[in-house]
Amino acid sequence: MKNDSSARIVGSLRTWVSTAAPGTRLPSTRELVSRHRASPVTVQRALRTLTGEGLIEARPGVGTFVREARIARPADYGWQTAALRSPRSRIEPMPAALRSTPNDVIALHAGYPDAELLPARLVRAALTRAARGDAALTRSPVAGLPELQSWFARELGAATPAGITPPAPSDVIVLPGSQSGLSSIFRSLVAPGQPLLMESPTYWGAILAAQQAGVRVVPVPSGPTGPDPAELARAFEESGARVFYAQPNYANPTGAQWPVELHGQVLEVVRSYGAFVVEDDWAHDFGITTSATPVAAHDDAGHVVYLRSLTKSVSPSIRVAAVIARGPARERILADRGAESMYVSSLLQVAALEVVTQPGWRTHQRGLRDQLQSRRDLLASAVREHLPAAAVEQLPPGGLNLWVRLPDGTDVPRLVSDCERAGVVIASGAEWFPAEPAGPFIRLNYAGPNPARFGEGAQVIGAALARLVA
Ligand SMILES: Cc1ncc(COP(=O)(O)O)c(C=O)c1O
Repeated sequence: MKNDSSARIVGSLRTWVSTAAPGTRLPSTRELVSRHRASPVTVQRALRTLTGEGLIEARPGVGTFVREARIARPADYGWQTAALRSPRSRIEPMPAALRSTPNDVIALHAGYPDAELLPARLVRAALTRAARGDAALTRSPVAGLPELQSWFARELGAATPAGITPPAPSDVIVLPGSQSGLSSIFRSLVAPGQPLLMESPTYWGAILAAQQAGVRVVPVPSGPTGPDPAELARAFEESGARVFYAQPNYANPTGAQWPVELHGQVLEVVRSYGAFVVEDDWAHDFGITTSATPVAAHDDAGHVVYLRSLTKSVSPSIRVAAVIARGPARERILADRGAESMYVSSLLQVAALEVVTQPGWRTHQRGLRDQLQSRRDLLASAVREHLPAAAVEQLPPGGLNLWVRLPDGTDVPRLVSDCERAGVVIASGAEWFPAEPAGPFIRLNYAGPNPARFGEGAQVIGAALARLVA
């Protein structure tokens, strides 16, 4: 009889628990006794059974609760395969540059600068000030806060020669990082299935954004002096493309900067095909021996869609960037932004503006130039010493990376995993090619943590490479 009552209570509570949120408190023993007209001993027995099944847990002196972590069952999501069918584009593994690694490894794979290269004092003060003001409680317009739009427009306007109309603040759309800007731009300017020209090699995130937008990537070879305008014209002609994605300043991964004469030549090709250049000026603040000169400064006819980011130079936590575009292209991108994320946090926009308008920002930028130069030179000389068979085709005039060519036939994936086992994380160059890699490359970032260990890192890569070649 007693066992029957206990089973009845177990059944009833099991149903109750199945619909309750983890952490919900069960009715007290006294309540259960009266609700089920059973003795306290019977109720306790039922509770013990459910505890044994892992459905509830007693917290002495507090009560009994639905368990936070339910017992794991092997899940079968096979039905989703039937519902989803094939993905529109291949789902790629996590890019090397985004990987988090333990502190004790030598990390040469990263995409974002180490905290010691950021204007930390300015960032902290700006966030505190922003939190005290109205921005903490207000929504931004979709295109961004007018003061920040003006700042981005002024920055590009400062490089614009006389005779060209500088961008207006209303041409600017503030973004939560330029990565989401790339997705919006590709979605807005290139119809699914249509071609998009890209330098090769180029930024893996742009390749990914293009794939996700369902556009067809057409690579255009690009070297230490940028793409050949004749080759670019041929690619426009053959593919029928109307958009060319490029990084004229300190390209990721090569660090290449286009010579100024190329700016006009590329613009001429682009104009003659009635096309757009999407200029990704991601490393505008990372000049070392030169300064970034945007191609967009020479265009007032809406052919250049210009992207500038502050996430790497101000702080990865202040995820603020902007796209500057004119005419219907700007309207299309704005419509996409509205649908995608509606607006960017006012707090982050105010903080970003606060940082870049402080006198300390310019001082920081001058110091950063020197720090990047010594880090770049340190890593480059370590590579020359420990990887004599490899070649750094160009010591980059800016940016954050060395692009290293390995001996022909090097098994790069194997080298990457051998290095990782020895505590050095590097990125395979293959991720930066929209089609087949043009050779065996690795990308080494000199803006990551602990430059004192660059030599040791290069030594490990050199030894792993020597073993592979042998
Ligand atoms: C060339 C290039 N464009 C865009 C981005 C994305 O930057 P953000 O942090 O502004 O999204 C990166 C980041 O590595 C990059 O290298």
